[in-house]
Amino acid sequence: MALANAVDTTQELLDAQSHVWNLIFSHISSMSLKSAIQLGIPDAIHKHNKPITLSQLADALSINKAKSPALFRLMRILVHSKIFDKVNIEDEDEEEAYSLTRASCLLLRDEPLSFAPFALTIIDPILADPFHHVTEWFKNESASPFFTRNGSGLFELTGNDRVFNQVFNEGMASDARFVGSILVEKCKHVFEGLTSLVDVGGGTGTVAKVVADAFPGLKCVVLELPHVIAGLEGSENLSFVSGDMFEFIPPADAIFFKWIFHDWSDEDCIKILGRCKEAITSSKEKGGKVIIVDMVVDCEKQEDVAIETQLCMDMLMMAVTTGKERSEKEWAKLFSAAGFLNYKITPILGLRSVIEVFLS
Ligand SMILES: C[S@@+](CC[C@H](N)C(=O)[O-])C[C@H]1O[C@@H](n2cnc3c(N)ncnc32)[C@H](O)[C@@H]1O
Repeated sequence: MALANAVDTTQELLDAQSHVWNLIFSHISSMSLKSAIQLGIPDAIHKHNKPITLSQLADALSINKAKSPALFRLMRILVHSKIFDKVNIEDEDEEEAYSLTRASCLLLRDEPLSFAPFALTIIDPILADPFHHVTEWFKNESASPFFTRNGSGLFELTGNDRVFNQVFNEGMASDARFVGSILVEKCKHVFEGLTSLVDVGGGTGTVAKVVADAFPGLKCVVLELPHVIAGLEGSENLSFVSGDMFEFIPPADAIFFKWIFHDWSDEDCIKILGRCKEAITSSKEKGGKVIIVDMVVDCEKQEDVAIETQLCMDMLMMAVTTGKERSEKEWAKLFSAAGFLNYKITPILGLRSVIEVFLS
């Protein structure tokens, strides 16, 4: 449709402009969230124990007094984004105060299920910059926009950049705490009866630790790249093994992968599943299986917000890895290509599912 000049299309034109503007500006919402986390705003409100006024917040954050009006503007957009609530108060100088919402409770640094490290990882320039290279990547031969930007893959960079390695591992661990707690509470049956489990690419061992603690009779091994697990110590039923999953996966009843397959191309996933076939020591009846925690994209069924998040995650995978988020059909194709005959999807983790994959 060409730009219309009829009066009754003006509103449509303005609506379309507003829609595009919202998309153009959407990174500013992420950046505002980043400032809130880095300044420690959720923690300051929490520590205050009751709704906090702007001047109390400015004091608590020790910000430059001249920046108070800017803090008001940051809080205004975050209230609009439902990160904070604004409440009316009776005070001599100020009429409004801020309180936490359920969303900002997830951003408290000392909250065990805090998402703050995950948020700071995803918004880190190292993961955000490759998006500026997507167009260039569409026309070049490089494996990913991340590679176009950095001349190496993500996991080579974490191996060479000590600071980002720590940021990334903490980010993953914060998500792992969240997922681990739900897994052992709501998905017990997935682990029951197992005597051994390898968490492949298990980061600093957060999920494995939660599972090992919940199932003391289960021997858990974390297989990881050396720079991720350097200096980590295991426990009675948890150990760390340094290695490359494309070369070898230690033998176990079940092989666990959280957020691994979405990092890799179909070809690489089939190679990894091939290593799983060699590693699985038990029959299906005795627990022999692959357990995957990842997204199952379903544009038909899911609610709009969930689809948008899944599609954004898929774009992130496109920008920083060679992987993607997969539909059930795509997962089924992978499993069958690798020689696995059955699978079961349990959509228990909100945007992600637990997928059990069996050889028979
Ligand atoms: C997206 S992170 C997921 C970490 C963890 N599973 C979680 O969800 O919290 C991917 C992990 O795979 C590890 N990884 C990458 N390539 C690997 C390889 N060839 N062998 C073993 N682990 C690898 C990375 O070091 C990283 O910790």
